[in-house]
Amino acid sequence: MQLPFNHLVSAKQLTRESMTELFRVADFMNDVWTSGVRSDMLGEKIIALLFYEPSSRTMLSFQAAVQGLSAGMILAQGEDSSSFKKGESIEDTIKVVARYADLIVMRHPEAGSAERAAAVSHVPFINAGDGPNEHPTQALLDVYTIQKVLGRLENMHIAFSMDAKHSRTIRSLAMLLSQYPGMKFTFITPEELRVDPALLQELKAAGVDCAEASEMEAGLDADILYMNRLQKERFNDGADFERYREKYRVTADMIRGRKALVMDPLPRVGEIATDVDDLPNAVYFDQVRNGVLVRMALLAKMLGKA
Ligand code: NCD
Repeated sequence: MQLPFNHLVSAKQLTRESMTELFRVADFMNDVWTSGVRSDMLGEKIIALLFYEPSSRTMLSFQAAVQGLSAGMILAQGEDSSSFKKGESIEDTIKVVARYADLIVMRHPEAGSAERAAAVSHVPFINAGDGPNEHPTQALLDVYTIQKVLGRLENMHIAFSMDAKHSRTIRSLAMLLSQYPGMKFTFITPEELRVDPALLQELKAAGVDCAEASEMEAGLDADILYMNRLQKERFNDGADFERYREKYRVTADMIRGRKALVMDPLPRVGEIATDVDDLPNAVYFDQVRNGVLVRMALLAKMLGKA
């Protein structure tokens, strides 16, 4: 099955059918990875990674995926090292890079930058995070992880905490999961970091039972407790919210013996105590590993090789 898009900009483009297909290929990539023999599936391709905003996991897992499939790679990292610094537009950068590479992956601090880039790219383009807006590949690996750990993608309660207002991972994941039946979402945030009302409307229109809460207790009996750090680089008074650090934090004592799986796109900045790591509830390091498999699958599919 062919994917219904040439460029991946938003989680909205990922239909249930395309996710099923990508997860099938990700399972295949797991077999390739564990076989100990590197695949040469993308041997003749060059992938450009443009990371104009800090990244560890997304950038490194794309690099691992590129290398796991034997593609060549060109990399631009940090706004300072790019021509943006000299005043070049996103459009011109993409038009240039599309002449070097067969596929472009870009992370950029501005919301909407991915859409602008995709509009002028004549090679497949992947949004690896555009400011506070979206992060579709993270959402995809999160859904893949849930499917693997819970064995289903229906009838579940997911609690999201804590910065639903600025977190692109929460936004993209909520959009993807809203396609499945029987979903209940609880957004656990301080009053000032409530989820975007327009997104809330969209989720409700898609049939999700949505609730908002201020206390962590509201998420402890969920199937999934999806934690994400305060996105303090995304708003001026970010530092003022440090006072919430203790309140929106999950510890082993809170979660031990409960069914809730604890997820986090990472980096962790205090929102999950390290004593949770040893509990069976902790799946955040599994997400990391699944990220490579899902990105391998996406690269192979978008380049017509799987
Ligand atoms: C997330 C991101 O960059 O949005 N991290 C990631 O890609 N794994 C989450 C975050 O930065 O909080």
